[in-house]
Amino acid sequence: MQYAKILGTGSYLPANRVSNDDLAKKVDTSDEWITTRTGIKFRHIADDDEKTSDLAVAAARRALDDAGLGADEIDLIIVATATPDMQFPSTASIVQHKLGVAGCPAFDVAAVCAGFMYALNTAHAYIKSGMAAKALVIGAETFSRILDWNDRSTCVLFGDGAGAVVLGASEEPGIIAGKLQADGAYLPLLKVPAHMAGGQICGNPYVEMDGPGVFKFAVKTLAKVAEEVIAEAGMSAADIDWIVPHQANKRIIESTAKHLGLSMDKVILTVAEHANTSAASIPLALDAGIRNGQIRRGQTLLLEGIGGGFAWGAVLMKY
Ligand code: ACO
Repeated sequence: MQYAKILGTGSYLPANRVSNDDLAKKVDTSDEWITTRTGIKFRHIADDDEKTSDLAVAAARRALDDAGLGADEIDLIIVATATPDMQFPSTASIVQHKLGVAGCPAFDVAAVCAGFMYALNTAHAYIKSGMAAKALVIGAETFSRILDWNDRSTCVLFGDGAGAVVLGASEEPGIIAGKLQADGAYLPLLKVPAHMAGGQICGNPYVEMDGPGVFKFAVKTLAKVAEEVIAEAGMSAADIDWIVPHQANKRIIESTAKHLGLSMDKVILTVAEHANTSAASIPLALDAGIRNGQIRRGQTLLLEGIGGGFAWGAVLMKY
């Protein structure tokens, strides 16, 4: 049996760390409102000259170091992002070049906050089928670029960052089960409508969100997909050592843990420090949990995330 196992992780946050109080100087909000509704305290914001690919490369280098591998040993690069450097080529191609390598397949996946779940499941399928032996899977976002900084209902929620994982083929687990789902009927809940036409950007280039609608759908759907992936792995929630959730909102995370009958002591929580970094949030949390000693080799992890599309997914794995 061929598994995809994590060989190394890495992450990167831009230096500019912005507190809720900093934001309250610019928009009509407060630390109290943001903290009680979301658990967010800080977010990191990229400088104007820092591209999504720069964040991705910084995280990737750390993950490669952690795995003890050179970029030339990687035979698949996938970048999950909703904020690519440009319309095309893919951010993954740009990352590949910035890492000083060429030749292996490199492509982006677009599933917004579920992007890392989509990228990880895709890399898993490549490795399981023998199409790749060592994959670099990155979630990277500069979400600050698609926020209307005058819209307090969205701008307080997000941040920039990147997280990366090196996956390698292994005889021992590894990813045990994975699930991806989507339903485009929920497009109205969350979108950036902008598109190019006639040489111009048409439509609003900023995040539009029905916050309570997203909240309700996320709570219901994450609980269900988590249960499904646990069942597919032939396990029970009690077997899980750590939930590594998408870090959108502490209350959504608490709801999933409660539904599974797991205490918050079993959850890697970085939303206070990172805010919602979309596709980067799960690998950022994973790397934080590993580096601070919470997550140890051999433990069982449940990764789960949901985002615009709507698209969602989960992965159950041994670290
Ligand atoms: N500061 C102060 N007041 C605010 C702010 C703010 N930043 N934003 C909105 N308000 C006001 C609203 O104007 C409203 O005022 P009103 O009652 O006078 O009209 C009031 O706060 C309540 O607004 P609600 O939207 O009802 O607040 P709610 O309790 O639903 O919380 C929130 C809003 C935090 C967005 C919540 O709905 C939520 O967390 N939803 C999930 C959104 C999410 O996580 N999106 C991320 C992308 S998708 C994903 O990653 C899963």
